[in-house]
Amino acid sequence: MTFPAPVLTTQQVARYHIDGFIALDALTSPQEVSQIREIYDDLFARQVGREKGDQFDLGGSDEEGVKAKLPQILNPSRYAPELKQMQLYANAQAVVEQLLGPQAKVTGDHAINKPALDGAPTPWHQDEAYWDPSQLYESVSIWIPLQDVTVASGCMQFIPGSNKLDIVEHQSIGGDVRVHGLEVCDPMVDTSHAVACPIPAGGATLHGNRTLHYAGPNRSDQPRRALIIMAGLPSKPYPAPRRFPWNEAKRTAREQRAMAASDKT
Ligand code: NI
Repeated sequence: MTFPAPVLTTQQVARYHIDGFIALDALTSPQEVSQIREIYDDLFARQVGREKGDQFDLGGSDEEGVKAKLPQILNPSRYAPELKQMQLYANAQAVVEQLLGPQAKVTGDHAINKPALDGAPTPWHQDEAYWDPSQLYESVSIWIPLQDVTVASGCMQFIPGSNKLDIVEHQSIGGDVRVHGLEVCDPMVDTSHAVACPIPAGGATLHGNRTLHYAGPNRSDQPRRALIIMAGLPSKPYPAPRRFPWNEAKRTAREQRAMAASDKT
């Protein structure tokens, strides 16, 4: 059974480019959402990718045997290739073409599973702050919750127009270089005009590589499962030298596991 890709209105496309984000109520069917949830929970339960540094704690120091604050898997579809066959991925591709043109492609995915009754927010950040500063990006992060999300369970929030900013200053969360996750530490950033996007399971928010975003703590009694599909135009060399010192400063356990794993091969 197929679930047709949403056809964006001219206004939605314009809003994406003006505000830096849009929210959609349905990118796939409820049936497919339950199928994906099963795969998703299994990947976390089996801790796939942990040894390679693909599964780690985004929000804590990630020591062995310590409960992760914010478990994340990079490239879950590498561990469960059936995900890529889902209508969701085809629809993500169709939507990103409507936003950025026919050259745009789905490039990867990740999963962030915020535990139930957890007090940790995902702090304000721009996705590009995590990436290679030598490249110029035009990309979209498609954030899909696998259950309904509200402000209380940690839905996405955005600063309209922040997509027009340059990359602002970031640091590892709490200033702890053992933590993979980043947070904005630029005192000029004003988050008082944030827009929260509560959406149903299988809906999506779409935001650009520079759009400032945040997700609150999960105060619900269920895990807040989010699958994020990355898409965009091919990156180009950045036209000037630039550095992201917050990434050079990082000393994460994930990085060490990734290095140890690549030494073995
Ligand atoms: Ni992000």
